[in-house]
Amino acid sequence: MSLDLPDIGFGTSGATGHDCADAVRTALDAGYRFVDTAQMYDNEPAVGAGIRLSGVDRDDVVLASKILPDNLGYEDAKRTSRDSLDRLGVDAVDLLYVHWPTGAYEPEESLRALQELHDEGVARNVAVSNFTPALLDEAREILDADIAAHQVECHPLFQQDELRAYAAEHGHTVVGYCPLGQGEIFDTPELQAVAERHDTTPAAVCIAWAVEKEALVPIPQSTDPDHIRANVEATELDLTDDDVAKIDGIEEERRLVDPDAAAWNQ
Ligand SMILES: NC(=O)c1ccc[n+]([C@@H]2O[C@H](COP(=O)([O-])OP(=O)(O)OC[C@H]3O[C@@H](n4cnc5c(N)ncnc54)[C@H](OP(=O)(O)O)[C@@H]3O)[C@@H](O)[C@H]2O)c1
Repeated sequence: MSLDLPDIGFGTSGATGHDCADAVRTALDAGYRFVDTAQMYDNEPAVGAGIRLSGVDRDDVVLASKILPDNLGYEDAKRTSRDSLDRLGVDAVDLLYVHWPTGAYEPEESLRALQELHDEGVARNVAVSNFTPALLDEAREILDADIAAHQVECHPLFQQDELRAYAAEHGHTVVGYCPLGQGEIFDTPELQAVAERHDTTPAAVCIAWAVEKEALVPIPQSTDPDHIRANVEATELDLTDDDVAKIDGIEEERRLVDPDAAAWNQ
């Protein structure tokens, strides 16, 4: 199985319309080859437009979308995933996620739909988001297809050791959302010290730290062209073992997406 994901992806939540299309085009032209959207973000048409506006072939882009929790009943999952393809203007997505195991999620029915979407070619790979190890175990039992990716919040203040170890054991990638802590963790002293040592920014350090980790792919979001370019350039930043150890050792923990409230706003 093992889908070979690029070192970095491009997040799109919160951006819609021309802002989103421009950001996606800028990202692809800057070198990103992995774009993340969701039915929930209300921007699938803009993401598709951004890909077409860029100088990059659709087939060279890993395109991911996610089924809204309310659409996870068997019939709705099948119908709305095809609607996602229409909105994106593509024949298939490369990754199709269960966005959250909430709402209409019912493991047997929802995952049967996901499996059939895979078998029918709507989804080249299946994926899940915001699962626990127990929910991952259950999903792996039900699905014939391998889970290609598990998308969860992951950044230096929320490192997800358990889920990354689970992913390494079972051969999928952790796609890390909020890799910049939504811009709210840059004052962390350890991030500032490492950034200073490399004459760069804490944002770049967050991305370089994720890239250092086995099978962890960060998907930073931005609508600022300078940030979009800086974030992809940060994948080239070489952290020393000492830098990584310093970040691994950050004691403060901060989770930005509240799992109870999140299903309805992410
Ligand atoms: N599966 C899920 O449940 C779930 C939940 C949350 C998010 N996601 C996905 O993960 C993606 C990323 O998460 P996120 O958008 O919440 O958080 P994030 O990527 O950690 O942070 C985005 C924020 O950081 C700022 N930023 C970006 N690059 C910067 C830089 N180089 N320097 C300073 N500030 C910078 C952006 O503002 P500017 O526009 O000004 O650059 C924006 O305010 C989302 O877009 C979405 O695709 C998935």
